[in-house]
Amino acid sequence: MTEGLPSNLADKVALVTGAASGMGRREAELLAAAGARVIVADILRDEGEAVAQGLRDQGLSARFHELDVSGEAGWADLAASIASEEGRVDVLVCNAGANGSAAPDVLSSDLMEKLIAINLRGTMLGVQAIRPLMGRGASIITTGSICARVGTPGVHMAYHATKGAVEAFTRAAAAEYGPEGIRVNCIHPGVMPPMRDRQGASHATRDRLIESIPLRRIGEWDDVARVVLFLATDAAAYVSGTAIPVDGGFLAT
Ligand SMILES: NC(=O)c1ccc[n+]([C@@H]2O[C@H](COP(=O)([O-])OP(=O)(O)OC[C@H]3O[C@@H](n4cnc5c(N)ncnc54)[C@H](O)[C@@H]3O)[C@@H](O)[C@H]2O)c1
Repeated sequence: MTEGLPSNLADKVALVTGAASGMGRREAELLAAAGARVIVADILRDEGEAVAQGLRDQGLSARFHELDVSGEAGWADLAASIASEEGRVDVLVCNAGANGSAAPDVLSSDLMEKLIAINLRGTMLGVQAIRPLMGRGASIITTGSICARVGTPGVHMAYHATKGAVEAFTRAAAAEYGPEGIRVNCIHPGVMPPMRDRQGASHATRDRLIESIPLRRIGEWDDVARVVLFLATDAAAYVSGTAIPVDGGFLAT
């Protein structure tokens, strides 16, 4: 399902974190279909290898690199590997994230630390490690959430805090790296799978969720991946420092 999408990423190098599954996987697939050489980075080795292999089987360019986004050493290792293999990065998508849904205690310390380490520290470490490999025209895309803007009962409060901080970090990075010709933007996905398939969610709960979304449907990974693709390309050459909700209008209500 790539008809009508921009295809001007030929020979560009794109790195997507958390690309072994979910939205990150779809983002990697669309970037590869648009011609980019994609680095699939994830903590899950088998699933990540399979995504990269699947892209290569379609004649696209992809390789897997095992990465825990929360650790500085892993990022240094990945940056060194890219410096010797591809030589540069044109698109960095910081997508890897830990979910705070259905937390038994929405302010528990252990999950708080994990959410901060992966969602916030993981994003900042990624930009810190990869930005030196980026030049004019490069694009960084961070992943927030509608939880950056609204409180959602039942979702860990630190999840909200990390996603709000990612949005603030995105603005700071856009201001800092704009003079180097690097654009930095954030996306705020709305209600997406796997929330749609969340076990235990009754039909009534799903119906209430859908009623709260002006476009009256839960999002698809493609909805988000297409916006990531837009931000990655020169179609968004004058877009930086912004946060784009991809939420069916949820935040407008
Ligand atoms: N699904 C939603 O409803 C929703 C809504 C808003 C925002 N988001 C955000 O979108 C992003 C992707 O969400 P998803 O629903 O596709 O999640 P997912 O759980 O399906 O995928 C997340 C991926 O990140 C990887 N990952 C987790 N911890 C990692 C680490 N420490 N290092 C490297 N990789 C790691 C996982 O292995 C997985 O492949 C996340 O940042 C999430 O917070 C999701």
